Formats: sequence, C-alpha cells, structure tokens
Amino acid sequence: MELTRVVISALFLLVAFGLSSAKVEEENPEFWRSQARKTLQSVLDRKLNTNVAKNILFFLGDGMGITTYTASRILKGQLENQTGEETVMTMDTFPNVGLAKTYSVDFQIPDSAATATAYLCGVKTNLNTIGVSAAARNGVCKTQKGNEVTSILKWAKDAGKTSAQ
Ligand SMILES: *[C@@H]1O[C@H](CO)[C@@H](O)[C@H](O)[C@H]1NC(C)=O
Repeated sequence: MELTRVVISALFLLVAFGLSSAKVEEENPEFWRSQARKTLQSVLDRKLNTNVAKNILFFLGDGMGITTYTASRILKGQLENQTGEETVMTMDTFPNVGLAKTYSVDFQIPDSAATATAYLCGVKTNLNTIGVSAAARNGVCKTQKGNEVTSILKWAKDAGKTSAQ
C-alpha cells in the first residue's frame, strides 16, 4: 500500500514536471530553427583532426545506455531548477560518438565480464566469462584452457607502451 502511494506520488510529480509551461522564447518557431542552424553550422565549421592519437583514455559507464544518460541529463537540469531536457552534458559536446550493442554470445542481457571482454579484447563471449572466447563454457572451468584471448593491455605492452604507476 505504502509503495503504491509512493509510486502514485512519483507519477504525479513527473506529470507536474511534464506539464511545466514553455518559456516565451520556446513558443516562437524561430527559436528552434535558429538553434538548429547554430548546431549544424558548428558541426560544419569543425576541423577534421587527422593526427594519430598518442594516447587513449577509456572510460566506461557500466550499464549506461541512452535511457540512463537521458535520465541523468534531466536530473542534472532539474537540480539546477530547469525542466531538465534542455541541459547540455559535456558528453553531448564530444565531436565524435558511437553506439555499441552489448550482448553475450549465449545470452541477450550481458554481464560486465562478457562486455569487458568485448570492449578490451574485441571478442564477444559467453555470459559470466572473461578473457576467453565463446568456445569456453560458462561454469565449465576446463574449457578455459586454450580459449584465452589477448587484450588491449597486451597489445599496448607488445607495442612498447608502459603502464602508469
Ligand atoms: C533551486 O530552487 C530551490 C527552491 O527555490 C533553491 O533552494 C535552490 O537553491 C535552487 N537551486 C539552484 C541551483 O538554483
């Protein structure tokens, strides 16, 4: 019962936020078209960087998909007393972005071991396994031998890179 009341209150709050009235500028079609022109122009003005990258920083928001990211954007804006959707996150300004499909070879919803293997070794594998190909079976330890895969860490070491101490 208590939970039901909390859920209903939360829904009411969401609806209240959803119905917040537009700012005067947002009622003017030219506001949106001008924003679109500025966005397009800034992309067209961008200079293509063709240099070879010296280093790569790899940050991974585990479980962070578009939906989670959108929720974060809205919360950030609402904590600043905005409606939220209009907030620009730093990641929104990155010049290049990509999307990845995350799944395990044997399971639709992957775990972090299998996805880390995909990201760091370039090989999709079975649920609950890490650093091995899909020829290794989940929970059958003897199938690990001979099915190990190399990772970006080994490739970096082989290329003479040093690790940060
Ligand atoms: C948002 O509004 C609340 C209530 O008026 C206020 O206490 C808070 O300081 C405001 N936050 C920001 C970031 O302006």
